[in-house]
Amino acid sequence: MKKQITVLPGDGIGPEITSAALRVLRRIEQKFCHKFNFSFSLIGGSAVDVCGSPLPQETIDACLASDSVLLGAVGGPKWDVLPPEMRPEKGLLGIRKAMNLYSNIRPARLWKALSGASPLKAELLEHGVEITVVRELTGGIYFGKRETLEDPTLGPTARDTEQYSAFEIERITRIACELARKRTGRIISVDKANVLDTSRLWRKTVHAYAAANYPDVSVTDMLVDNAAMQIVKNPAQFDVLLTSNLFGDILSDEAAQVTGSIGMLPSSSLGDGTRGLYEPIHGSAPDLAGTDTANPIATVLSCAMMLRDSFSLSEEAAAVEHAVDAVLEEGYRTADIFSAGMKRIGCMQMAELIAERI
Ligand code: IPM
Ligand code: MG
Repeated sequence: MKKQITVLPGDGIGPEITSAALRVLRRIEQKFCHKFNFSFSLIGGSAVDVCGSPLPQETIDACLASDSVLLGAVGGPKWDVLPPEMRPEKGLLGIRKAMNLYSNIRPARLWKALSGASPLKAELLEHGVEITVVRELTGGIYFGKRETLEDPTLGPTARDTEQYSAFEIERITRIACELARKRTGRIISVDKANVLDTSRLWRKTVHAYAAANYPDVSVTDMLVDNAAMQIVKNPAQFDVLLTSNLFGDILSDEAAQVTGSIGMLPSSSLGDGTRGLYEPIHGSAPDLAGTDTANPIATVLSCAMMLRDSFSLSEEAAAVEHAVDAVLEEGYRTADIFSAGMKRIGCMQMAELIAERI
């Protein structure tokens, strides 16, 4: 199989974790006789530095012309002082929108070898953790109208708008239902319907759509404040967790920490076709940049998701996941998941060991 992959290393640890992940993809290429052609484009702060924009048009064109996109991370203190339109994060939100990637899947699973890295007590983890966050990615408060103004009576004032249409809610519900069908058939939909109009529409639309099209899937609702508590109280009750852009951003970080480290969590972002964007859910960790200490596993696992979800290469995807499992079982750890008695290694060596086990 021949595929064109655009790589967007971004900022901070982005270049290190993407180059580590490419090591693993090259191993897959060789072992399974595929041809992956990688091309590199700028995004985020590094794009601002070179082109004066966090999302140059050439980057959008390259992504739209490729079969899939691998992204590292964006942002850093250097660019925090820039106006909102120039911030690195604007590049990330922009590429999600430009590629119409409304569906963001973030699987948080507890790897057996890492159960000691979870901050939760062992008895809370007895039934394992396997939470798949299905996050709406191109709507909600992230993309609504916002404004900072000098109000004549209130003084400095700002507003952000949360907006959802039934169409946007239905298409992400379909993604969650399809996923639920392949799993336990259960969805927990998270909202704040006791306060927000958008959440009331969310709840009504999710139920109507699921009942009409997926009668075999069960949907229960949970308020977001309760969900935040339940994730640490009884994580095993969650399977597919369906939610909006903002709530999904927050709850996926929480779910990640429950499984030990945010450095382990991959994600896929897809629209209607098979061209996706794959990225770790963590940020650019500017303090770690250039030290070869970042955990590349979230990015490596994002590549596994790319193989499966964009290219239908399930055997190759499973080979990557098994290799990650093997390396963890052998006791190799990056700093974020290190504990006494384990073998501490750097970012590139972690990728090297994973590649060797494929
Ligand atoms: C994420 C990140 C981004 C988001 C930021 C960097 C804009 O936190 O992918 O979870 O909020 O979506
Ligand atoms: Mg986030």
